[in-house]
Amino acid sequence: MAAAGSAVGLGNIWKFPYIAGESGGGAFLIIYLLCVIVFGLPLLVTEFMIGKRSGKSAYGAFRQLSGNNRWQWLGWLSMLTAFIIMGFYFVVTGWCFNYLVEAIRHTFHGQDAAALNAYFDGFVGNIPRVLLYSVVPVVLTASVLWFDVNKGIEKLSKILMPLLLIMMLLMAGRVLMLDGSNVGMQFFFRIDFSQITPYVVLEAMGQCFFSLSIGMGALITYGSYMPRYQSVPAASVQVAVLDTLVAVLAGLIIFPAVFAFGFNPAEGPELAFVVLPAILEKMSFAWLSGVLFFGLLCIAAVTSTISLMEIVVAFFCEATAETRHPLNRHKSVLLVSAIVVLMIALCVVANLFDFYDKVTSCIMMPLGALGMSIFVGWGLSRNGDQQPQFNAKGIKRPVVALYLLSIRWIVPIAILLIFLYNIGLI
Ligand code: PFF
Repeated sequence: MAAAGSAVGLGNIWKFPYIAGESGGGAFLIIYLLCVIVFGLPLLVTEFMIGKRSGKSAYGAFRQLSGNNRWQWLGWLSMLTAFIIMGFYFVVTGWCFNYLVEAIRHTFHGQDAAALNAYFDGFVGNIPRVLLYSVVPVVLTASVLWFDVNKGIEKLSKILMPLLLIMMLLMAGRVLMLDGSNVGMQFFFRIDFSQITPYVVLEAMGQCFFSLSIGMGALITYGSYMPRYQSVPAASVQVAVLDTLVAVLAGLIIFPAVFAFGFNPAEGPELAFVVLPAILEKMSFAWLSGVLFFGLLCIAAVTSTISLMEIVVAFFCEATAETRHPLNRHKSVLLVSAIVVLMIALCVVANLFDFYDKVTSCIMMPLGALGMSIFVGWGLSRNGDQQPQFNAKGIKRPVVALYLLSIRWIVPIAILLIFLYNIGLI
């Protein structure tokens, strides 16, 4: 559940619809689903397994399992990736908090598409306000890590995540009753093969990594908490299915509404933030629906920021443990928060939003995944460690064989091919 909390977040509800909207709807959806099967499942298994076997987080896990320092760069890469993602993820989480406040004030009552677009542009143009709202979730996340109340948050999200899902189902039901919603359904489900370009494939792969929180060692930490008896493949399938369901549900809510209300599916990052208030206004109990939805969205975002910040905090603690200036947890939390605030300021002031996003999803996470697949598929087996331990009874040999085939050949070759196509070498 905690890993699902890390996976389900703004990536599903905000990013998936906007990238799908820019990349041709149905064409993107099909490639995305393929990516979840080809990359998502094997890499979820891989990260959980690395964590479960080593009992460590990304920093120590590679050294522990390989017995040398040659794979240490994967830990560093994951720390760097987490920092850059936080640089823009907190900004969007701040947008959510701002929209929660506006939902409480019922600002969007009676506003049409043009007014909602104008509101968004006005808000993101107000840099001090955006900065202020981005710092709110940083303080919240840091407090959770400072007071070590992760477990409490986990319990809370066990109740709130299903509530978010129910809320989204109700919204999907309402949207499907709107006039013109069928055009959006066609957009989302009809595959126009001419839209599939190497860049769309790269974006789908990046979105898959981002949404499932893979390729940067975040789930290694969760794997290290897994009890012995827990089945790694079962947990991986659960996380993949739940995460994908939420993303598809978000598409089912947003695209029919886009066409019914006269928005543009290729609006870009503002898509969810202009369309969702319009839908919520059409719900019965509009005020309550708006407050509830944006409240739950904020919580879904914060469960993800907790896992992002935890990677770096754990890294700082572990990496400095044997030095003359070891950082304890509290000092790490403070230092990390300060760096994150700087990254956020840089993102907002220098307009690095797109850069942060693309460089992590489309380059750093696939690179991390490539490293991890080679580490597990080739590195470990050279150490005489032939079989991956799934810690699951009754796993059939063909499943193990399929996993090894994926992690040794399919995942690394597919990532390399997608890279080569996109830099024009193929
Ligand atoms: N998977 C999260 C989302 O879809 O919103 C984002 C994320 C969280 C990425 C944690 C990476 C990570 F380590």
